[in-house]
Amino acid sequence: MSDVPPEKPSEDSLETVAAEVVGCPMCKLARTRRNAVPGEGQLSAKIMFIGEAPGKNEDEKGRPFVGAAGRILDDLLKKAGIERSQVFITNVVKCRPPDNRVPEEDEVAACRAYLDRQIALIRPKVICVLGRTAYSSLLGGGSITANRGKIVEKSGQKYFLTIHPAAAIYRKSLTAVLESDLKRLAQEVKESEGTSMEDYL
Ligand code: URA
Ligand code: SF4
Repeated sequence: MSDVPPEKPSEDSLETVAAEVVGCPMCKLARTRRNAVPGEGQLSAKIMFIGEAPGKNEDEKGRPFVGAAGRILDDLLKKAGIERSQVFITNVVKCRPPDNRVPEEDEVAACRAYLDRQIALIRPKVICVLGRTAYSSLLGGGSITANRGKIVEKSGQKYFLTIHPAAAIYRKSLTAVLESDLKRLAQEVKESEGTSMEDYL
């Protein structure tokens, strides 16, 4: 008999993922980032938002969606009655691509395991896919404008498709589109919860 206690099975956590992301050397974006951006939010989140990649502000702060696109997202979440603090927000790649170019295939592939671990830990009711990069990377989809507003199910996971908040910076009319999509998303999550205690009071 040994005196050494049996090793605890190693359990993954959002904190473990975040710590690994912060020191990650797995793709070339590691060489140009200032801060990696693991994502933030609740383990208990019912909705997970997945964008493209950190931009300049996110790279400076190490937090997702804290620049102009983030302000639009915050505002529209509020209008849809979704609390930012109650959801989880992250990106397909966790480090900023130089000059905000679209992340390349090898970078998306290298970063994929972190996103998969976050999804597996959170097990959200719905993943809200923000824009084309997230759509193609998660679902192999093409045009987001042709498919936004749709709910897709893949391997038992529900996805809600919508445009990227940054698109509304360039074309103001898209703000209303994103607003109505996020309201639908909120409704969808509410309905999927079925009855609640309030129904019996
Ligand atoms: N755009 C994104 O896709 N993600 C961010 O975190 C910020 C801007
Ligand atoms: Fe690692 Fe992802 Fe950052 Fe590449 S983008 S260095 S894979 S955390």
